[in-house]
Amino acid sequence: MVYYIRFLKQPLIKRSGAKTYAATLITLTTDLGDDFFPYEVSLFATIIEQDEYQWKEFLWRPHMRTLWIELRIADVFQMPRTMTLLISPLRGTQGDRIRVDNMPEILGARCPVVPLGGHVVADRVQRQLLTEQARIDVYEDMGESIARHIWDAGCALIAYLDKLLTDEAKEGKTDLETASALARRFRSARLNGCRLLELGAGCGLVGIWMASALPHCYIHLTDLPEAMGILKFNVSQGRYASESRTDTSVLDWSKEIPHDLQNQKYDLIIVSDCTYNCDSIPLLVSKLEALLDVSPQALAVVSMKTRHDSEAIFFDLMAKAGIRQLEKQEVMLPGRSHMDPGRSAETAQIFVFEKLTAPQK
Ligand SMILES: C[S@@+](CC[C@H](N)C(=O)[O-])C[C@H]1O[C@@H](n2cnc3c(N)ncnc32)[C@H](O)[C@@H]1O
Repeated sequence: MVYYIRFLKQPLIKRSGAKTYAATLITLTTDLGDDFFPYEVSLFATIIEQDEYQWKEFLWRPHMRTLWIELRIADVFQMPRTMTLLISPLRGTQGDRIRVDNMPEILGARCPVVPLGGHVVADRVQRQLLTEQARIDVYEDMGESIARHIWDAGCALIAYLDKLLTDEAKEGKTDLETASALARRFRSARLNGCRLLELGAGCGLVGIWMASALPHCYIHLTDLPEAMGILKFNVSQGRYASESRTDTSVLDWSKEIPHDLQNQKYDLIIVSDCTYNCDSIPLLVSKLEALLDVSPQALAVVSMKTRHDSEAIFFDLMAKAGIRQLEKQEVMLPGRSHMDPGRSAETAQIFVFEKLTAPQK
């Protein structure tokens, strides 16, 4: 399980006598917000101002739910200036490295600091994620809305896709005879471009990573109306691979597919961490079915972290809709189950599906 540093308040500058401090309140919790980091860990609070930075170490202890961060700011950091506060388990200002064989246990976050006498302006925090193929920034809303932050299965999916692309780029690694359907589709995407649709994109982590890693691609990210603010913002901030472009639309699984998307053909349809709510699974499957009817050659890539047994209905409904599971991969999520028998090892699963075509008469 990945734990996420979250700012509970925007950091601000305080004065006490002649001294100046930056202060904020953070927590260290799961994607669902249902658990707090249960071990002792050092966290580094780093004030960044252009190329300069200064830091202080804080200790997160077991059973903590929040941690007050307050660090003195040296005189070289004069007001008013634009400063950012980064909280991370890593010292320095780098982002978090996401690798399939080494997923980070804790993801850092950064947030602009309210200057002395200034107003709280930022309701967003930034995560910087580094993979072999792309470096992306994803902003999240400060609150706890499901749509407006990133999720374990999304992180696992970009780690997995990053490895596929990295292996594919190493000459001779992709043997077309034995490669998985997804690896072959990626090879074709790298050479010829591809059209990709993402359902339930949330902050846009996966779609933005794809558009940053793959050239000549068209990537359409969709979600509910309430997610559009953060999704559009993130998409507008992306630094994309050559000639790749992105678009966003509302696509609510409980409604008709919007007119402009109805007859579009795609090579890949991506769904990440969208099967946690069993009530919406039938709606999601019906949309996948309709989309795959229009794009029968497309592969649907679904990543999930199974949270309850009832999610199995997703697979029954996919089979009933004539959508066949081609592949399943597991990505180990970080955890200390080896030293904590109370916790079991966790994985995210990545499934690849295709539409069964009717037999030729
Ligand atoms: C757990 S989040 C995952 C977000 C993102 N895919 C990720 O991996 O970070 C689930 C997403 O599904 C979206 N969602 C839930 N119900 C939906 C519906 N009926 N139609 C469209 N999107 C929906 C939510 O708005 C949310 O963004």
